Amino acid sequence: MPDTPVIEVTNLMRQFGDRTVLKDISFNVHRGETLVIMGGSGCGKSTLLRHIIGSMKPTSGSVKIFGQEITAMSEREIESIRKRFGMLFQSGALLASLTVGENVALPLEQHTDKSSDEVAGIVEEKLQMVGLRGFENLKPAEISGGMKKRVGLARALALDPELLFSDEPTSGLDPIMTAVVDQLTQKLTHGAHMTAVVVTHDMTSAFRIATRMIMLGHGSIVAQGTPDEIRNSLNPEVQQFINGQADGPIPLNLSQDEHEDHQQVKPRPFVSARHRFHRKTA
Ligand SMILES: Nc1ncnc2c1ncn2[C@@H]1O[C@H](COP(=O)(O)OP(=O)(O)OP(=O)(O)O)[C@@H](O)[C@H]1O
Ligand SMILES: [Mg+2]
Repeated sequence: MPDTPVIEVTNLMRQFGDRTVLKDISFNVHRGETLVIMGGSGCGKSTLLRHIIGSMKPTSGSVKIFGQEITAMSEREIESIRKRFGMLFQSGALLASLTVGENVALPLEQHTDKSSDEVAGIVEEKLQMVGLRGFENLKPAEISGGMKKRVGLARALALDPELLFSDEPTSGLDPIMTAVVDQLTQKLTHGAHMTAVVVTHDMTSAFRIATRMIMLGHGSIVAQGTPDEIRNSLNPEVQQFINGQADGPIPLNLSQDEHEDHQQVKPRPFVSARHRFHRKTA
């Protein structure tokens, strides 16, 4: 079936304890699309990505990648499907003890039997793509935050994935480097070669790369559509978010009652770490 969606998320729901972070999320992503997921900090974007890549299991609902149900897979089965996609984590998630080059080489060493010369060639090519050729031998602690992000992207692209997940790929990057990373995403998805799911708060970047956008809020999909549909949305939450306005329907500081309503979280009294330590050792 040529038109099977690359990703199908159906009625996805996730609770942590008695707190519902994702509820009734459904959407599809087709080959060659760049889906941008946006929404306020803490609304569940990274959690949604973790469910799509199979590193978290939903409370209920279904996630299919390349037509296969990932929620029911064993870690070994997920591992085999992971060869087909790359993931750039929000934190970069580089291994501190390895050099930049070794970090980028990691997926190639885990999933292929390429020679060390071939691996070195691919590492050089991917670092070149993100403007970091020549930085192979530095350790993550010796490079800047934005550089770590780009190394994470080079690593996510190491296996030439059919599907790329990027969580905040341009946060911490200057406007020029943001444009470079955006151009790279556009180039890779051109001609439907790759499909991308990108979480971002950067609206310039979002509208530049998206072929479709989803806005999350209160654990649900508030709006979805093409960039033009989102830009012209009559939903005041969407307008507040995309225009970055402090005043609007999205609450900034929830009162305790509202907080419980929205998040179903039971407040706990704050205890300082020092206090806890004293209590434990007393
Ligand atoms: N393992 C976990 N256990 C309990 N709660 C969790 C866990 N992971 C995430 N959460 C909660 O889920 C909510 C959504 O978190 P998530 O990291 O997905 O937000 P986000 O939309 O990516 O935010 P940001 O834009 O700041 O990165 C948060 O309130 C967080 O506390
Ligand atoms: Mg996040």
